[in-house]
Amino acid sequence: MDRRKFITALIGGSALSVYALNRLNAAVYQSIVTLNQKYMKDNAPDGIYWNALGDHFIFQDGLIMMNNGTVGPMPDPVFNTLIKYFKVQATNPYDCYSFFPTKKEEVRVKLAKFINADPDEVAINRNTTEGMSLVANGLDLKEGDEVLISSHEHPAGIHPWKLKEKRYGIKVKEVPLGAPPKSVDEIVNAFKNAISPRTKVISISHTVYLTGLISPVKELSELAHEHDIFLLADSAHGIGMLDLDVKKLGIDVLASSPYKWLGAPTGCGLLYVRKEVQDRIWPSIASSGWDTHKNARRFETLGQRADPLILALGEAIDFQNVIGKRRIERRVKTLAGYLKKELKSIPKVRLHTSTDLYLSGGLTAFSIEGVSPNQIVNYLREKYNIVIRTIGRERDNTHGVRVSTHVYISFKHVDMLLEGVNYLARHGA
Ligand SMILES: Cc1ncc(COP(=O)(O)O)c(C=O)c1O
Repeated sequence: MDRRKFITALIGGSALSVYALNRLNAAVYQSIVTLNQKYMKDNAPDGIYWNALGDHFIFQDGLIMMNNGTVGPMPDPVFNTLIKYFKVQATNPYDCYSFFPTKKEEVRVKLAKFINADPDEVAINRNTTEGMSLVANGLDLKEGDEVLISSHEHPAGIHPWKLKEKRYGIKVKEVPLGAPPKSVDEIVNAFKNAISPRTKVISISHTVYLTGLISPVKELSELAHEHDIFLLADSAHGIGMLDLDVKKLGIDVLASSPYKWLGAPTGCGLLYVRKEVQDRIWPSIASSGWDTHKNARRFETLGQRADPLILALGEAIDFQNVIGKRRIERRVKTLAGYLKKELKSIPKVRLHTSTDLYLSGGLTAFSIEGVSPNQIVNYLREKYNIVIRTIGRERDNTHGVRVSTHVYISFKHVDMLLEGVNYLARHGA
């Protein structure tokens, strides 16, 4: 087959399996569109709508996945697209590069629209860790300059700054956060009080892995910019869980991992860099383009990539778009709200997550007096096949377990978890 025919075959879908995978995806979207039409007038559609949606995720039979940390699951269309493009690449690794770059730019445009950014502000990198490191490495800071981080940062938000501290003599200052904090003011004032004339950066988790706090990054951005301070947000869990709007948040940089809540495959990340601050960050990895791209593309000259992952990221955005990201955030918070309300009524349970809808999302952390986090995780897995994870540390009262409530979780699943927690709180492990 000559080159033109090959491409026509791929795009047109006449290669059987590619065609079949496209058909499968079309059927999934058709079913969601039909559901949308049926439940359009229902503000918080439950039951049939969400159960039907849950059926479009790839899960082992009976597995109840209530952990979106590390890696979350993929919806069927994303998996199909991933397979499709790996197949395309494997069968002709040369000709596919006549259209992969264009497709990748289409993904950038989708991703930018999804978070309300300009495509020139979006770098598609590999993960949050890489994004946080790139910014820490790339900002020009002098000995004695200060970076404020919260006391609840993920290692990916601590170590890039610790490395810079050791290498260049900057100072990393920790601002204590409550578990949970009581209000937006409590958090903003803690940062306000920590600012000094040497403070150059605030680097904070938007989605706090220990407690499930959604930090008030909008208010922190305003505070930072009043003092000419750079604000970097680690929103590893944000994309796909929250209705993200980077312009509303006003941040300079946001790093996220779309394989936690967005359903993308592992290995593709989002780095949003506001246009106005791009020339303040040096790229860390350099190939051609690092100095000629006058946009966020200069932060992703990473050499050859696993491009099918990036193309499948585009499918993950399509999948969430057909549901609606506002609707997704609402569902995620509705489930988490119910879980938190019920947990609060169980004796010996301590909630580590705020019940304030503005300061929380789909991550709920808690502990049970007299029952270890490992015992909770093991009991729920053995009895119900529910997957949650241990989290936190004794020293700041965050030691416990963490539960994710994404859209494929139903109230019935939450009730199963609550039944288990109730049993453990009353009888021990
Ligand atoms: C808040 C936070 N930041 C950063 C990371 C690191 O994410 P990744 O390994 O995808 O870079 C995680 C991982 O769960 C996280 O929860």
